[in-house]
Amino acid sequence: MLNVPSQSFPGPSSQQRVASGGRSKVPLKQGRSLMDWIRLTKSGKDLTGLKGRLIEVTEEELKKHNKKDDCWICIRGFVYNVSPYMEYHPGGEDELMRAAGSDGTDLFDQVHRWVNYESMLKECLVGRMAMKPALPKDYHEEKKVLNGMLPQSQVTDTLAKESPSSPSYDWFQTDSLVTIVIYTKQKDINLDSVIVDHRDDSFRAETVIKDYSYLVHVALSHEIQEDFSVLVVENVGKIEIVLKKKENTSWKRLGHPQENHNSIIPKKDTGLFYRKCQLVSKEDVTHDTKLFCLMLPPSTHLQVPVGQHVYLKLPITGTEIVKPYTPVSDSLFSEFKEPVLPNNIYIYFLIKIYPAGFFTPELDHLQIGDYVSVSNPEGNFIISQLQELEDLFLLAAGTGFTPMVKVLNYALTNIPSLRKVKLMFFNKTEDDIIWRSQLEKLAFKDKRFEVEFVLSAPTSEWSGKQGYISPALLSEFLKRSSDTSKVLICLCGPTPFTEQGMKMLHDLNFSKDEIHSFTA
Ligand SMILES: Cc1cc2nc3c(=O)[nH]c(=O)nc-3n(C[C@H](O)[C@H](O)[C@H](O)COP(=O)(O)OP(=O)(O)OC[C@H]3O[C@@H](n4cnc5c(N)ncnc54)[C@H](O)[C@@H]3O)c2cc1C
Ligand code: HEM
Repeated sequence: MLNVPSQSFPGPSSQQRVASGGRSKVPLKQGRSLMDWIRLTKSGKDLTGLKGRLIEVTEEELKKHNKKDDCWICIRGFVYNVSPYMEYHPGGEDELMRAAGSDGTDLFDQVHRWVNYESMLKECLVGRMAMKPALPKDYHEEKKVLNGMLPQSQVTDTLAKESPSSPSYDWFQTDSLVTIVIYTKQKDINLDSVIVDHRDDSFRAETVIKDYSYLVHVALSHEIQEDFSVLVVENVGKIEIVLKKKENTSWKRLGHPQENHNSIIPKKDTGLFYRKCQLVSKEDVTHDTKLFCLMLPPSTHLQVPVGQHVYLKLPITGTEIVKPYTPVSDSLFSEFKEPVLPNNIYIYFLIKIYPAGFFTPELDHLQIGDYVSVSNPEGNFIISQLQELEDLFLLAAGTGFTPMVKVLNYALTNIPSLRKVKLMFFNKTEDDIIWRSQLEKLAFKDKRFEVEFVLSAPTSEWSGKQGYISPALLSEFLKRSSDTSKVLICLCGPTPFTEQGMKMLHDLNFSKDEIHSFTA
């Protein structure tokens, strides 16, 4: 039996799911933690060598700073001296050096576009690039009144050739309402596809169309009430956002265009957008894992699609720190019981608190009523992967269980072809198993669902499966209902678990299309 070596499971990076491409964090020297870095940035030390001056950096100049002890990197047009950060970079010095003396934006985005470098590196800012990289279309010239659809020529030129056929918008009004209509011209649009935020007079509706984002972003010309409704006509891809006027006056225009208004941009090129959510409750689930409930502001419409994660952001000693988390339902039975609270306002997270961690102790210290910023959803799981599925196998380790919650709920409720769902849940001890009794009840209630717990450090009373992920365990577990049944295997857990699991699944002849691993 080919067990995952125990020294690497859990490994130093065990809290972190594998990053796309299979890279992981490196052990850092003593005194080089994130907290140490933040302390250094607050120490008043000159970290750029420029005594607080900001300069314009030419490409020739940037290229010269390409050594470890003199390393400048440009990200989104701003140049940072990252030499002082070298030893603190969790991805290691060599990774950081890949961008030395150059524009590292693409590389940075490929690995961790969510990392809040602006805040972490603010004391390392050297200045701006003299030749600015192409920015999204500048709308200053467009001071014209917005009154309905913009002509095609005014749609941003960032519209890529391969982008979905260009969406557009329009608006109309009654005495008391203003309705913004977004025509996506796509059929697979639903309430998850549109994220609306209204803050002060700024109104922002981001529609996700495949890998692109279409933005309606205006400073409204008149005040509106806090709440609004969002409707989707799915078969024609039309979205209606109904705003309530504060005063029953006739609007001559919707408002003034803001950044990227009426443009469609690759999703990877849009910055992460955050809104502040309030902590409503926090409940113990296991000895170290808690269920957090956050409430969205009333002026936000956001539904996190099945299988996707969001980023939580908190200021920690003055620096904004971001980490990814996967929302869950409030319980495994949320689809089967009467909703106690109105839908779509609450986001739930199962979060393991690491006493020596950086972010989770801060989350744990939040009081009810405190705020956390929550980003737009991200992730590469596509719900259509579940369509016509017959066998769904879920392999989860520790908090790698979190994406499985919604996948499981969705599949059992919405996929008529489904014959069985099997979860193999790896933990260290019985005490670590999240929602054990709910999982057992669900298996009892729904005959299509089975759960198997595997423990790596059980007590002598444990009569269930023991060990780590292995080909033997997998081949026994992954039995199709028929030779031709449509199968999906979802995998999530610490880096070694995911990497080794993927390899074993390939060796067991499952095709790429039959496997989905959850990554950042
Ligand atoms: C897409 C995605 C979704 C996620 N969803 C969830 C979720 O739903 N729930 C959840 O609980 N987590 C989730 N995570 C993990 C989460 O993002 C954090 O990584 C986790 O909460 C730990 O954060 P922290 O800052 O508290 O701990 P960290 O500061 O990262 O430390 C965690 C532990 O590792 C040790 N450590 C840190 N760095 C090193 C190092 N270089 N060498 C050796 N040891 C080290 C620390 O001492 C500590 O014990 C997800 C991760 C990803 C990528
Ligand atoms: C541009 C070149 C860079 C490359 C190639 C790179 C690469 C990596 C890699 C491989 C990891 C580990 C895997 C992962 O966690 O996803 C990592 C982690 C990290 N990097 Fe970078 N990095 C770069 C620049 C930067 C910069 C400029 C910052 C500035 C703050 C930064 C901050 C971080 C942080 C905070 C993490 C830990 C993320 C976590 O909590 O999981 N990186 N990087």
